[in-house]
Amino acid sequence: MFEEAQYFAPVAANEDGSVTVQLAANHPGFADPIYRARRNAIAALAVGHTRGDPIPHAEYTDEEHEVWALVTRELAAKHHKYAVTEFVNAAEELGLPTDHIPQLEEVSDLLTPLTGFRYLPAAGLVPLREFYGVLADGYFHSTQYIRHHSVPFYTPEPDIIHEVIGHGNTLASRRFADLYRLAGRAAQHVETEEALEFVSKIFWFTLEFGVMNENNELKAYGAGILSSYGEIEEFRGMDIRPLDLAAMGATEYDITKYQDVLFAAASLSHLEDVVGSFWATCDDDTIDKLRV
Ligand SMILES: [Fe+2]
Repeated sequence: MFEEAQYFAPVAANEDGSVTVQLAANHPGFADPIYRARRNAIAALAVGHTRGDPIPHAEYTDEEHEVWALVTRELAAKHHKYAVTEFVNAAEELGLPTDHIPQLEEVSDLLTPLTGFRYLPAAGLVPLREFYGVLADGYFHSTQYIRHHSVPFYTPEPDIIHEVIGHGNTLASRRFADLYRLAGRAAQHVETEEALEFVSKIFWFTLEFGVMNENNELKAYGAGILSSYGEIEEFRGMDIRPLDLAAMGATEYDITKYQDVLFAAASLSHLEDVVGSFWATCDDDTIDKLRV
C-alpha cells in the first residue's frame, strides 16, 4: 500500500450503510458508472471486515481478469531483467495465478505457509500506525479493486496489482518478510508522529522504492517499482544515492510521479544490516538524532 492520503480516492460511509468511493474527475474510471458501482461495493467489503474473519469475495469482470493476465505476463518478463534474484525466486515459490485476479484469501493461503503473512482488506488509506503496526503481526493491508480496464498499464492509485504482484511476491521471501515485520515492530515502538513518519520514510525508500546492486547491476526490490510497467524501465536512470538512514528520512518525495531519487543498498545483507537493524532497535531518541 502507498501511504499518502491524497493518493487514495476518499471513501465515504453513507447513512444507509453503503459506501461511496470518490474518484477524481481525471480518474480513468470516473465516467464509467458500472466500474464506480463495483468500486463502491468492493470498498464496502473492507469497511465491514473484522480481522480474523475470511475476507469477503470481490467481484471482477472478465475485462478486469484480462487486465491482470496481461499485466502479470508483461511484468514477469521485466522482473527477470530488473528484479533482485530474491524476489524472482520468491515469486516463483508463491505461484500467484496468472489468468485471474486472486481473491485476497487466496493470496493469504499461498503466502502463509511460506512466511506467515496474511492480507487484510483496505477500502482506501489506512492510518500509518495501523498500516505499519500490523506488519509486526504478519498482516498486510491491501486494496482489492483493480485499475480501470481502459488503461491496463496505468493506475493513479495503489490497486491489487501493486498490492499483490509488488508486495505479495516480496512477502513470499523470508528475508524480505522479516524486514516488513521489523518495520512493523518499529512503528509499534515509536511514540511521536515525527518518529513514525521517519520509520515510514525509510519504508518508502526501501521496501516501496528500493534498489540494490547485484552482480554489478542495479536491480529493484521495492514493490512500487516492481509493480509499475513504466517505472521499472526507468529506475536505473534516476539519481541513485547510497543507502543512508538520515538521508532517506530527510528526502522529500512526490508520489504522483516517478521517484527520481532512489537509495541503493550494496546487497540484501547490507539492507538487512542497515535498515533491518535500525527498525529492530530504533526508538524516539535514536530517530531524533538522525533527524538533523
Ligand atoms: Fe505499496
